[in-house]
Amino acid sequence: MLASAISALVLAATASAHIVISYPGWRGNNLITNETFPYGMQWTYPCGGTPVTGNRTYWPTTGGALAFQPGWFRGHASAFIYVNMGFGDDGPDGGPANMSFPVIHPFQILGPSNNPYPGTVCLPQVPLPKNMTVQPGDNATIQVVELAAHGAALYSCVDITFLEPGDERIAEVNATNCYNSTEIGAADIYTITTRESGSDEYVSAADPALSLSVFGAPLLGWLPLLGAGIWAVL
Ligand SMILES: *[C@@H]1O[C@H](CO)[C@@H](O)[C@H](O)[C@H]1NC(C)=O
Ligand SMILES: *[C@@H]1O[C@H](CO)[C@@H](O)[C@H](O)[C@H]1NC(C)=O
Ligand SMILES: *[C@@H]1O[C@H](CO)[C@@H](O)[C@H](O)[C@H]1NC(C)=O
Ligand SMILES: *[C@@H]1O[C@H](CO)[C@@H](O)[C@H](O)[C@H]1NC(C)=O
Ligand SMILES: *[C@@H]1O[C@H](CO)[C@@H](O)[C@H](O)[C@H]1NC(C)=O
Ligand SMILES: *[C@@H]1O[C@H](CO)[C@@H](O)[C@H](O)[C@H]1NC(C)=O
Ligand SMILES: *[C@@H]1O[C@H](CO)[C@@H](O)[C@H](O)[C@H]1NC(C)=O
Repeated sequence: MLASAISALVLAATASAHIVISYPGWRGNNLITNETFPYGMQWTYPCGGTPVTGNRTYWPTTGGALAFQPGWFRGHASAFIYVNMGFGDDGPDGGPANMSFPVIHPFQILGPSNNPYPGTVCLPQVPLPKNMTVQPGDNATIQVVELAAHGAALYSCVDITFLEPGDERIAEVNATNCYNSTEIGAADIYTITTRESGSDEYVSAADPALSLSVFGAPLLGWLPLLGAGIWAVL
């Protein structure tokens, strides 16, 4: 079904790249290029050109599932994926003022090719931001960012209202609406510090003093364990 939907969209549009949030839903179709969005809606921060919506979907107060289809249109043989949340209604569109609360470590997706491809990625338990607690009835927005190989980002969002886990108004998560397709691989992203802030000393990868991190979280403790395996993804 996705494959045929993709062909239809590819015929209908000329833009490259794009992402669809399939669970728990999205603000609406922003796979659009027109006079208002001559480069394509999804390149627009923070939510791909879609303002906050009234048709919120329900999501557990303890965090929950997120599924998306990253391969609409060309240009995503690989991409980095970020997931953030925003809270409050102080933003220019009456939604969150910012989407500055990351909820996962970014990771890379590995598509089968640079052409449009079907398939989904499922994150079964996306947590709330660290130290954040919410009450049933509170609102938030989940933002999925797909960072293309050239560094520009595509945005798509879904507006949610929190409910107690297990509330029957939360759409069931199952192997039909949340699964990882075989054709979309994944990779962890690491950085290696080559010079600390405040230091003039450069560190080479062979130096035992190097500092390895998964996007900000120091990994020094793991270093001996990771050993050779890690170099494959760098
Ligand atoms: C909200 O409404 C838009 C426009 O009808 C629709 O495309 C979108 O799927 C809806 N989102 C949810 C989460 O129901
Ligand atoms: C372009 O598409 C968006 C989203 O559907 C819409 O809000 C906007 O009015 C459209 N612009 C034009 C010029 O049709
Ligand atoms: C959540 O958003 C809905 C509109 O989508 C609004 O009616 C409701 O008052 C909001 N809830 C809170 C706690 O702000
Ligand atoms: C981001 O939004 C939150 C509200 O959710 C607010 O407390 C915070 O100050 C905002 N941060 C910035 C940098 O605007
Ligand atoms: C899908 O792949 C992502 C990235 O590797 C992983 O975090 C997630 O747990 C996987 N989902 C399932 C349902 O196994
Ligand atoms: C979370 O709270 C703990 C204890 O107050 C604090 O040490 C930690 O820095 C906080 N983490 C974040 C990401 O704010
Ligand atoms: C999976 O859950 C969805 C609702 O999110 C439901 O429509 C669908 O029937 C379920 N599929 C199976 C196989 O249970």
